[in-house]
Amino acid sequence: MCRSRRSFLHSIVGGAATGIALQWPLAGLSRTGSFEPPQLDGQNPLIRLNRNENAYGPSPKVADVIRSSVGSANRYPYVERAALTEQIAHFHHVKPEQVLLGCGSTEILRIVAFAFLGSGKQLIQASPTFQGMEHYARAAGSEVLLVPLTRTYAHDVDGMLARATASTTVAYICNPNNPTASLTPRKDVESLISKLPATTYIVIDEAYHQYAGHSGMYASFIDSPVDDERVIVVRTFSKVYGLAGLRLGYAVALPKVIHHMLKFATEDNVNAAVAQAAAAALDDTNGVNESVQRNANDRQIFFNSAMGRTLKPINSHANFVMMNTYHPAEQVIQDFRKNNIVIGPHFPAMDTYIRVSLGRPEEMVAFWRTWDSLPYTKGLMTH
Ligand SMILES: Cc1ncc(COP(=O)(O)O)c(C=O)c1O
Repeated sequence: MCRSRRSFLHSIVGGAATGIALQWPLAGLSRTGSFEPPQLDGQNPLIRLNRNENAYGPSPKVADVIRSSVGSANRYPYVERAALTEQIAHFHHVKPEQVLLGCGSTEILRIVAFAFLGSGKQLIQASPTFQGMEHYARAAGSEVLLVPLTRTYAHDVDGMLARATASTTVAYICNPNNPTASLTPRKDVESLISKLPATTYIVIDEAYHQYAGHSGMYASFIDSPVDDERVIVVRTFSKVYGLAGLRLGYAVALPKVIHHMLKFATEDNVNAAVAQAAAAALDDTNGVNESVQRNANDRQIFFNSAMGRTLKPINSHANFVMMNTYHPAEQVIQDFRKNNIVIGPHFPAMDTYIRVSLGRPEEMVAFWRTWDSLPYTKGLMTH
């Protein structure tokens, strides 16, 4: 297995030692016994702070819809799919032909790879960033150009422009970025788009959009589009909407781009339950606002707890936090695992940093209790 594939798999499972199973794309691996089903250690359920999920789940209104969706379980979901496509288009003030649904935004990234990349073509992206696009780009036979983030954990626009060539058919921008939870200023992304070769599609992954906050630094490329047919914006229902387990993401782009991508999508890739849940979630503005507010509170409490211990996490615009432990991340990850807590994987570009998804209050209490019990976290100085 090539290194990047291994590290993508590692990033999505948080390491084999986590004990969290992924059925796909790891089916082959799980047969080897490397990954076990979710497990209980003694009496305690595993505390899962590793995948940037919404620890609270969907809103009550959405949960009700999921329960009642059983009535459509026997039917192929094309009616629900078409209705949801319309609704998302309406929500974003675009045409339905500009929306493509996927089995999670991961499927959208896979579709991009097979629609626009391949042998002799290159993907350019930051390092570290979410590895899904890279994983599928390599699977499609492409070269991947990795450009380190800047010192402020933003995409290095000049560095990316210096590396991109006419064969660079996809640039992947994750904003806010996973794993750093940091923002790349809107003006920098616009500048990058305008200067990349005409042959480059620009994928803007807005998985954490709702958490980004309101500032001149950030604006969604769906809400405030640029007049450029190469831009493909990707969103997910896995984060703020709390539907990671049901799998739904989508792309917004121009009709001819969506039309081409559609050829690579799985037939009936959106199940009836999630199509109905997502429809309810989009309508439930209060539910989304509450989810964002709760995350902001949890994030503030995390930062207070960290700073009380002289830690300085990277400023977070998402539902997770990355922070320097001044200790080999791999060992910190293992030590948390021994205490029944899974945190994000080791990112080689940031060897002493850990990524922690925000969990429920009691889970975060357990996180800090474990932190305080580790011998090397005593008297940690951050300068
Ligand atoms: C930036 C980013 N994009 C995409 C995904 C995949 O999300 P989905 O559940 O929609 O496949 C994730 C998941 O963590 C992510 O962090």
